[in-house]
Order: sequence, then structure tokens, then C-alpha cells
Amino acid sequence: MAVHVLDHPLIQHKLAVLRNKETPVKEFRELISEIAGLMCYEATRNLPTEEVLVETPITTAKCRMLSGKKLAIVPVLRAGLGMVDSMVDLIPSAKIGHIGLYRDPVTHEPVEYYCKLPEDIENRVTFVVDPMLATGGSAVAAIDFLKKHGCKNIVMMNIIGCPEGIKTVTEAHPDVDIYMAACDEKLNDHAYIVPGLGDAGDRIFGTK
Ligand code: PRP
Ligand code: URA
Repeated sequence: MAVHVLDHPLIQHKLAVLRNKETPVKEFRELISEIAGLMCYEATRNLPTEEVLVETPITTAKCRMLSGKKLAIVPVLRAGLGMVDSMVDLIPSAKIGHIGLYRDPVTHEPVEYYCKLPEDIENRVTFVVDPMLATGGSAVAAIDFLKKHGCKNIVMMNIIGCPEGIKTVTEAHPDVDIYMAACDEKLNDHAYIVPGLGDAGDRIFGTK
């Protein structure tokens, strides 16, 4: 298991604008999507490829194409939805599952309200996507659920994480690699990430 913090200048620039409390909903939503696309590029770096022969207009070229396992993208509702489109643009053959979880405002424990996965999810490399990894409770619940459905190869993608969330996920699921654009300092008393970006779901969907 490994934690990868993606410090590419484009990702870091977009993240700085994303964090700004003055960034309007439309721009926030676009940035979440753009950052997810850039992160997807890095998180898929080690996917296996195989040699194929392609007839170009000139001659036969030895090329490489993705081989082996099929992919799935599973957003944790609702904020994870903001990361899906740019990933599917890059991996159009990926199937999409959904796991609905919200954090109880008092206990901060995840509450499950919806799940629908591709039938053959156990045969797919599965990218769980959620902008925020705070206590880690939602991530662990989502990964638990996927493993119950037979998933063996799971990758977690968050835009912002923190040491508490990383510890919780790595202890519960040491086999899962985590990709994030930033590992922030800590959680506050309401289990929000500091400095963070506030409530990702509300800022993506304009609900507050
Ligand atoms: C947010 C976020 C994660 C979760 C992270 O969702 O999108 O799913 O909190 O917190 P945790 O690591 O402490 O579990 P939220 O529960 O606010 O629901 P929403 O996406 O519907 O806004
Ligand atoms: N969920 C969010 O949307 N933001 C946080 O900082 C923590 C949990």
C-alpha cells in the first residue's frame, strides 16, 4: 500500500483556486473535474499494456494498448460524482458504480443510503473517488462494501486528505493505494479538514 501526493504544478495551481472561499460554484465544479482528470492520468500510470500491431497509412507499427483487467469508477455520493466525467473521458470503457454515504453530523460516522455496482465488479480494477478523505470513515465503509462484493484491486482517489484519514484507511485496508492532490494538516472539532476547502458536496452542487 502506498500514499501518493500528486504535486504536479497544474494540479497544485488548480487546487489553490479550488480552496479559495470566493471561487463560485461553476468554477469549483469545473476545477474538481479537471483535477480528477489530471490525477487519473497519474493514478493509471502502472496499468498493464500489451503490444499490438496497427496498420498506419504508411506501414505496420508496433504499439501498446491497455491489457488485462477492466476498470470501474465508483464515486462516493454525492461529492464523488464531480470527479467522474473527466475520468470517463480518459477511460471510456470503464463501468461506473455508485455508493451513497453521508456523514452523520453528530457522530461523523458514515450512513449508507444507496449502492449499485457493475455486475462483474470483482473482475475490475476499481477506482473509488471522493474529493475529501477526512476521518476516513466513508472511505473505509466504501472499500468494505466493494470487498464484500469481491473487489480485490481497489485504488482510492481523493483531492484532499489528512493524516487522520490516511491512518484509518491504511490500517483497515493496507492493500489499497491512495492518490491525493494534497495531504492537509489536521481535522477540526467538526471533523472538517484544515485548511481544506469546506464542504465539497455543497460547493460542487451549490446547496449552501
Ligand atoms: C463528505 C466527503 C466524503 C466524506 C469524508 O461527504 O465527500 O464522502 O464527507 O468524510 P469522512 O472521511 O470523515 O468520512 P458528506 O458526508 O458531506 O456527503 P455529501 O457528499 O453528500 O456532501
Ligand atoms: N467533508 C467535506 O466535504 N469536507 C471536509 O473537510 C470533511 C468532510
